Amino acid sequence: MVPFDIHLIRLFLHVLAATIWVGGQFTLAAQLSTVRALGDTATKDVARAFNRLAWPAYGVLLATGIWNLLEVSVGDRPTSYHVLLSVKLLAVAASGIGAASHVVSRSKIALAIGGTLSALGAITAVFTGVWLHG
Ligand code: HEM
Repeated sequence: MVPFDIHLIRLFLHVLAATIWVGGQFTLAAQLSTVRALGDTATKDVARAFNRLAWPAYGVLLATGIWNLLEVSVGDRPTSYHVLLSVKLLAVAASGIGAASHVVSRSKIALAIGGTLSALGAITAVFTGVWLHG
């Protein structure tokens, strides 16, 4: 029988939040030109609405990420696991910092850099997360 237990709930919450944080960014980017055509403030309004969902999801990722670390006996893992985990945590930080700077930026170049950093960090966090899980 496939077990239905607390580990399933932990990974479910972590992956659900990742789908919102990562998938939401790409969905928003894909709709940008359509949203722009709706009016001068449409892009900002839609981005603000997305942020109300995305930042709580990022919070859930941090909380369930710490929960993951407590459950996987991280201290007993080999050096390769710790290296991969460090790469993942850098990617998580880059994604959060990139997204935060995207929110407060005014210039087009700063917006582009923040958005790119956030998306690349998010993709890397998913890839290394799946790799860690094995
Ligand atoms: C942008 C933020 C994050 C994203 C997108 C993300 C994404 C993911 C994904 C997709 C998995 C694979 C789950 C699976 O294969 O079932 C995973 C696993 C994992 N994540 Fe994250 N994660 C994020 C943040 C964090 C943080 C902040 C930590 C630690 C504090 C963390 C620690 C882990 C660990 C240890 C695993 C492996 C869990 C296991 O083997 O049971 N993650 N992550």
